[in-house]
Amino acid sequence: MTIYSRIVGTGSYLPSKILTNQDLERMVDTTDEWVFTRTGIRQRHVAADTENSSDLALAASRKAIEAAGIRPQDIGLIVVATTTPDMVFPSTACMLQAKLGTKGCPAFDIQAVCSGFVYGLGAADKFVRSGQYGYALVVAAEVYSRILDWNDRSTCVLFGDGAGAVVLKQDKAPGIMSCHLHADGSYADVLSVPGTVSGGKISGRPLLQMDGSTVFKFAVKALGEVAEEALAANHLQTSDIDWLIPHQANIRIIQATAKKLGLSMEKVVTTVERHANTSAASIPLALDEAVRDGRIRAGQHVLLEGVGGGFTWGSVLIKW
Ligand code: ACO
Repeated sequence: MTIYSRIVGTGSYLPSKILTNQDLERMVDTTDEWVFTRTGIRQRHVAADTENSSDLALAASRKAIEAAGIRPQDIGLIVVATTTPDMVFPSTACMLQAKLGTKGCPAFDIQAVCSGFVYGLGAADKFVRSGQYGYALVVAAEVYSRILDWNDRSTCVLFGDGAGAVVLKQDKAPGIMSCHLHADGSYADVLSVPGTVSGGKISGRPLLQMDGSTVFKFAVKALGEVAEEALAANHLQTSDIDWLIPHQANIRIIQATAKKLGLSMEKVVTTVERHANTSAASIPLALDEAVRDGRIRAGQHVLLEGVGGGFTWGSVLIKW
């Protein structure tokens, strides 16, 4: 019998502090009008000094575990996608495991920047399909506020903090129909945090830098191609997609992707206006919102697609 994996619970968490574009007008030379017209962003959430990625991950995971109707000790595998881990090691997944009060199951981080959640889901799907684990917890948690130059108006207006989580369960039918993952490391300099820890000091600049227009063009191309790839692999047409949940970086990237696919924006879940770009967390945050408000229903096709630093990009097609 073929084994598949199915999402049986979703959860998310946003820090309580909200930073609006008007707040940013007092910090850098920008305007609400510039940020909104160029990106579609009005506000973002920012973690408290005491909140780390594992804390955001814990809050989102608890909700997903509750929605799945299981206990933390039922989880056979924990995968956390993050670019902003609590520390160099242990992994944020191990920190999360301890905070969930469970032990013994494997726990590891995935580093694929804004594609981290689709990479994590792709990896966990393979483990669940192998029959080894009954339940897997896949989480994406980010505190980008810690890696931004708050004096650089070209980057600090774009990002926010947050976390999203799903519980995967073995099932006789999909569930996850396909995962397609890609990377091209030759673009490393286009979007990076070029710093690390070495010899007891920070080496290089540990703040996000990017070539915005190259990222923009690459994202539109990659998101279009990866959607076509998922549809072709499953012998589906654009009209078969009930919901598209793309990475939430910029509403203009999302609109261009939908247009390329010939998909109405009414079928696209967007949160970028309220959350900004929460990197790996943006897709599970949007997924949880659309599940909880009843937009996503049993039997529907949901296409998740991510693109981010690396470059990395990929899709997960789900029959809900
Ligand atoms: N407020 C006011 N003016 C600004 C701001 C700001 N916050 N930021 C930049 N500007 C200025 C620039 O200095 C430039 O001025 P100049 O013409 O005098 O030099 C002007 O605005 C126009 O800048 P452009 O780069 O041409 O603006 P564009 O329309 O391309 O939008 C943006 C820039 C929003 C960064 C866009 O390129 C973008 O969204 N790129 C994708 C980046 C992204 O999403 N990165 C996230 C990580 S990757 C990912 O998640 C996929």
